[in-house]
Amino acid sequence: MINLTKVRTRNNVSRPLPVSTPAYLEKTYWWAYVHPKAVVFFERQWLVNLILWGNFGKLRDTVLDELGYPIHGVVLQIACVYGDFSVKLAERLSAGGSLDIVDVLPIQLENVCRKIPASSSVRIMQRDSTSLRFADGSYDQAVLFFLLHEVPTSVKEKTLSEALRVLKPGGKLVIVDYHQPSIFHPLRYLLPPMLKILEPFALDIWKESIESWLPKDSLTVITAKEFFFGGLYQKVVIHKC
Ligand SMILES: C[S@@+](CC[C@H](N)C(=O)[O-])C[C@H]1O[C@@H](n2cnc3c(N)ncnc32)[C@H](O)[C@@H]1O
Repeated sequence: MINLTKVRTRNNVSRPLPVSTPAYLEKTYWWAYVHPKAVVFFERQWLVNLILWGNFGKLRDTVLDELGYPIHGVVLQIACVYGDFSVKLAERLSAGGSLDIVDVLPIQLENVCRKIPASSSVRIMQRDSTSLRFADGSYDQAVLFFLLHEVPTSVKEKTLSEALRVLKPGGKLVIVDYHQPSIFHPLRYLLPPMLKILEPFALDIWKESIESWLPKDSLTVITAKEFFFGGLYQKVVIHKC
């Protein structure tokens, strides 16, 4: 049985509400996130960097630079990430800044809890990205680092809608994820067969723009769109009006 108490006490977080594991995680990503051996296997900086073709540091740092130096205000990281992403984010917080990290899987929350020093201004909570259960306008900034390509379209849409809902007016949503690389990039041809098997929702983000999943009634401005590694990765920055 997963010990959520450990997650709560070590980082002084509030009691997690019961959240069920989405079917796509159990079915498609059990080998990456759900199984205890998956966490032991993947929680290696060199391995997550290899999975991103050596771009982990660059992509992590572009998010951190977008958030600020130091990072002020209340920041929400939606979904855990293997490697040092959250550690570096927490290290960059200003004296008054704070970070909330949410994930739907207790095993992932326990894992991130082990990486973050107990003295940090970080709270770790179990939440589904499609139903964050935070009040409207709670956060100054929010981050989605490689979550969208892993979830079905309806979850992409609800996640973006929720991320924007919990942002304050004037707040910023920073997204880094896959993108269809240029026609000269060998991975444009080599990756799809692998992604179809391992990450069946990933190719959606090659075919459609992140903007197409934004809620139609939201008042937002895309303030930055940048591509990395021949277009295989994208950063999209969305301001909530
Ligand atoms: C951010 S994504 C991928 C990150 C990246 N591939 C890495 O190196 O870790 C992985 C995380 O998303 C979480 N996740 C997936 N669906 C979610 C949802 N609906 N709500 C919250 N977390 C979710 C998984 O539990 C997992 O911890």
